[in-house]
Amino acid sequence: DSAAVYHATATAPVNIAVIKYWGKTSTKLNTPTNSSLSVTLSQDDLRTLTTASCSAQFQADALWLNGAPHDVSNVRSQACFAELRALRKAKEDRDPSLPPLSSYKLHLVSENNFPTAAGLASSAAGFAAFVRAIADLYDLEETPTELSRIARQGSGSACRSLFGGYVAWEKGSRDDGKDSIAVQVAPESHWPTMRAAILVISDAKKGVSSTAGMQSTVATSTLFPNRANVVVPARMEAMKKAIAEKDFETFADLTMADSNSFHAVCLDTVPPIFYMNDTSRSAVRIVEEMNRCAGENIAAYTFDAGPNAVIYYEEPAQDIVLGVLKKAMPAAIGWSDKYSKIEAKLPDG
Ligand code: PMV
Repeated sequence: DSAAVYHATATAPVNIAVIKYWGKTSTKLNTPTNSSLSVTLSQDDLRTLTTASCSAQFQADALWLNGAPHDVSNVRSQACFAELRALRKAKEDRDPSLPPLSSYKLHLVSENNFPTAAGLASSAAGFAAFVRAIADLYDLEETPTELSRIARQGSGSACRSLFGGYVAWEKGSRDDGKDSIAVQVAPESHWPTMRAAILVISDAKKGVSSTAGMQSTVATSTLFPNRANVVVPARMEAMKKAIAEKDFETFADLTMADSNSFHAVCLDTVPPIFYMNDTSRSAVRIVEEMNRCAGENIAAYTFDAGPNAVIYYEEPAQDIVLGVLKKAMPAAIGWSDKYSKIEAKLPDG
């Protein structure tokens, strides 16, 4: 039917790594120098909602993000389109009664339920929702792990957003990237008391893109090989064990150490890359001091390629953790029960 328009809608949540991905072995394939592990945030709070449609009438592939048109001619989007179309084409070849959707142009309409001004990396949820929506439109039977291989080519960290809960991205060893995929370590329900608060320290766009930053760290940092080859492999195993045992003390130690290690290799890059600012560093001091006073880890900070902090804690410690942070960081506002946003309206760095 040449007039028909086919639709599917999917969502994908934001994930925040506790063992960071930093460094690529191939910029074309987005294969990482080390494995990584993240916690997927709740769908209710931070997610991308994407509707994919296709029709024989559409003239070109197109994407609208939060109402504005976005370029899809970049290699990342093209790689995702090509892989998904190839899977659909194989399905149509097996069953010729299916409509030939693989030959139609795609329109994608994407919306984030969090303010872009929050300065949170949205590419992970964005590419995961992009891939999930097209896979649903095409009625593909591929598992989330199989789809993670495609989302990875859009944005590395996107491969982890195809799952909820605790997710490992196993770096793989093949040159073609086929075994560089995400797997769920534990579902969200495994650790029902886990919470995350987001401290929005600055909504400015990050100065150095993650791709450019990774390339220059890999090329110049003398600390980096030790991080990628020795430190992270050991931490991946320790983190999986801490999650299996719901051992927050160890989870927090590893999360904070890995964030600091990632920012240390950024500082060790030539020229140095600074993602954290003075306000970020005061958040680190507050959490360290809070844990010292408690005599155990009640909170853990982590920072991505920007100054904003994500603070993990367990629900019984919520009042004390958020209470201390709100007092120390002015203009705090709650975001939701499960994942709270606290805005720290302090001057930038
Ligand atoms: O997926 P990218 O290219 O935006 O890189 C993300 C890198 C970090 O957020 C800093 C770490 C991570 O593992 O998510």
